[in-house]
Amino acid sequence: MSRTVPPLRIGPIEVWPPLVLAPMSGVTNRTMRALYKPFGLGLTVTEFVSSNALKFGSKRTMEMIDQHGLEKPVATQLWGDDPQTMALAAKVVRECGADIVDINFGCPAPKVTKTNGGSACLRDPQRCEDIMRAVAAAVDCPVTMKMRLGWSENELVYVDVARRAESAGVKAITLHARTARQFYKGNADWEHIARLKQAVRIPVVGNGDLDEPHIAMERMRKSGVDAVMLGRGVLGNPWLISQIRDLMEGHEPSPLPPAAERLRYAIVHYRAMVAEWGESRAVPQMRKHVALYLKNVPGAARLRERLMRIERADDAIALIEATAAQLESPLAA
Ligand SMILES: Cc1cc2nc3c(=O)[nH]c(=O)nc-3n(C[C@H](O)[C@H](O)[C@H](O)COP(=O)(O)O)c2cc1C
Repeated sequence: MSRTVPPLRIGPIEVWPPLVLAPMSGVTNRTMRALYKPFGLGLTVTEFVSSNALKFGSKRTMEMIDQHGLEKPVATQLWGDDPQTMALAAKVVRECGADIVDINFGCPAPKVTKTNGGSACLRDPQRCEDIMRAVAAAVDCPVTMKMRLGWSENELVYVDVARRAESAGVKAITLHARTARQFYKGNADWEHIARLKQAVRIPVVGNGDLDEPHIAMERMRKSGVDAVMLGRGVLGNPWLISQIRDLMEGHEPSPLPPAAERLRYAIVHYRAMVAEWGESRAVPQMRKHVALYLKNVPGAARLRERLMRIERADDAIALIEATAAQLESPLAA
């Protein structure tokens, strides 16, 4: 094996391969992270957690920061607008097993920005700096930060905020190359990611719209980033992770498994979710995951529709299994 890229270094932590699973609220819980990790993720990040909610230790919040030791290293992501509350929350998540504390300056959702959290912090770079300094001083592990380009296209503050991060002791920066006002519209602009890489000495992780292995590697090479982060592209397609890992390890990517095999993996995912969260929480969550595993599967639209109405995990699994068997039958061939 001859590696085509070096590992990502976040303070004393070496991340190999330099391939990071994006935090996705409501999606990347610990079950999914543990399932997708062996496909070749060097680093996983929890869903974002409110620093205010951590003060009260709500059950749901504590579940979100809980790991079961299968992911190492793991970053826990926090959001909030108050430096002292963020520092206290950082101490709590560190005690609960975070190897890295990540700060969210990227979320554009109104329920977060209306209290000046997430991407709204970018409207006040000094506040970002105060938060980063307070968090970095509070914990004995590396602190990282994930941001967007700025609040709007007239306020592209990412270079300023990144330089402040560097001086505050932050050890790596992830840039999702859209503005907050764009939400998920348009394309992530990797030119900005390349510009950020030139502007700071700490590692930069590039993020946005990576859903094909060769393009991901090309973006990484052209922008010069130290790692790439994968979000929506891996949903229902963890094989994208192994394909990029293959390229990073210096060989051609393995082809996507046949549809029946992909569906059987959806069943593995389903069972793991039921085992960990119980049927009533797993079934609604798995509807969105299975819909994504069904991408490019013949007859997917009808199957998706049926799965939307199924309330019992066993029924859903039986239907997915029957579809996989049908796809493998000589008649289907
Ligand atoms: C459903 C969903 C939830 C997300 N939740 C978070 C989050 O909790 N923290 C965060 O920093 N970004 C969050 N993001 C943004 C992703 O981490 C990532 O930056 C974005 O999806 C762009 O990457 P992609 O094009 O590879 O999906 C979320 C995105 C989605 C689609």
